[in-house]
Amino acid sequence: TSQIPVITIDGPTASGKGTVAHRVADKLGFHYLDSGALYRLTALSALRRDTDLADEHALAKLAEHLQCSFQGEHILLGHEDVSDAIRAEVVGNTASKIATFPAVRHALVGLQLGFRKAPGVVADGRDMGSVIFPHAPLKVFLTASVAARAERRYKQLIGKGISAKMEDLLMDLQARDDRDTNRAIAPLVPAEGAHVLETSNLTADEAVEQVLKWYAALGHKH
Ligand code: CDP
Ligand code: CDP
Repeated sequence: TSQIPVITIDGPTASGKGTVAHRVADKLGFHYLDSGALYRLTALSALRRDTDLADEHALAKLAEHLQCSFQGEHILLGHEDVSDAIRAEVVGNTASKIATFPAVRHALVGLQLGFRKAPGVVADGRDMGSVIFPHAPLKVFLTASVAARAERRYKQLIGKGISAKMEDLLMDLQARDDRDTNRAIAPLVPAEGAHVLETSNLTADEAVEQVLKWYAALGHKH
């Protein structure tokens, strides 16, 4: 599998990782790994089972035995479609808390590596380039100002008919940034060799174009 190309796209919440990674994968006909979904699935399982959120060992067990499958846009936990359930704010917050446990992160490594399948994979998360695929031929780190990212989340929520308060979103975003950046294990930092792309003033399509240009510059056949 070491010949199979990987493009890693890391960055803070609402920097556009999911949107950009998805479109890049579509353009190249690559698989797509939404690693955040794995932390969210573990969080959802824990919330449903009332697992003690401080019990690292129990959480790692849940992660290790996650019965999930990815079918196009749909994410299943067991036989249940949880594509919407895992996007709930409480699930995201819980995911970011349990993601600070080394045993939980460790338990999800094999599952993530398994996404490296021909003809290639675009992996989105926090540590795709730094930990999971350190030898990826193309690593991208997306950033955007807190204000730009809060604005994006706001629009996403309003678009879904969910009411939101800008000040709550800003606070939540900063708390999430703090936790992701300051944790001891796999903190959110640009991986060695990553291209940093500041997207505050870019559209998602412009960001996609830039990533595709970097990929084309590597001279891979696709
Ligand atoms: O995955 P992540 O949390 O990093 O972000 P996302 O879920 O892809 O959400 C980003 C939102 O901002 C989407 O609604 C995008 O359409 C929009 N957006 C973007 O992704 N990139 C830009 N350069 C501008 C806007
Ligand atoms: O949508 P958002 O960017 O907020 O989150 P996500 O990508 O769906 O991931 C949910 C949480 O899982 C994040 O807040 C991170 O703390 C954690 N995560 C991680 O630690 N490592 C990854 N590779 C992906 C997500």
